Amino acid sequence: MTISIGNDHAGPDYKKAIVEQLEAKGITVHNYGTDTPDSVDYPDFVHPVAKDVNDGKVDFGILICGTANGVAMTANKYQNVRAGVCWINEITELARQHNNANILCIPARFTSIPQALKMVDTFLNTEFEGGRHERRVNKIPLGC
Ligand code: RB5
Repeated sequence: MTISIGNDHAGPDYKKAIVEQLEAKGITVHNYGTDTPDSVDYPDFVHPVAKDVNDGKVDFGILICGTANGVAMTANKYQNVRAGVCWINEITELARQHNNANILCIPARFTSIPQALKMVDTFLNTEFEGGRHERRVNKIPLGC
């Protein structure tokens, strides 16, 4: 499995812990930064991740900012991206089961690192349920 990850200045610690967890499981990670707490503009770190997912170059993406809204709004501009804002495990599970989310967006200022690690694990290990949810997900892209 290959995952692309990116974050703004709200998330370097969260990202570091997530990358360690993923690599310990043998998952390949493309880290697009940022890796310091210096202030940056989140779209600069979202576009490379969203492009990878949109183009099918990786299995999933993970994005982190303060609220997760900025990164999700940016990523969801891409036609093949379904980026979900998740802050508890149940919503993470449903984002995969019902929405076939392919990018997990984590609000670093509103969740803990242990909770974020649990959500990553859940996100990667939960299957899309398909069926009626597939019909709905297929209606998401512009022009459908
Ligand atoms: C940065 O201060 C903050 O605006 C950003 O992390 C994010 O919450 C934006 O949506």
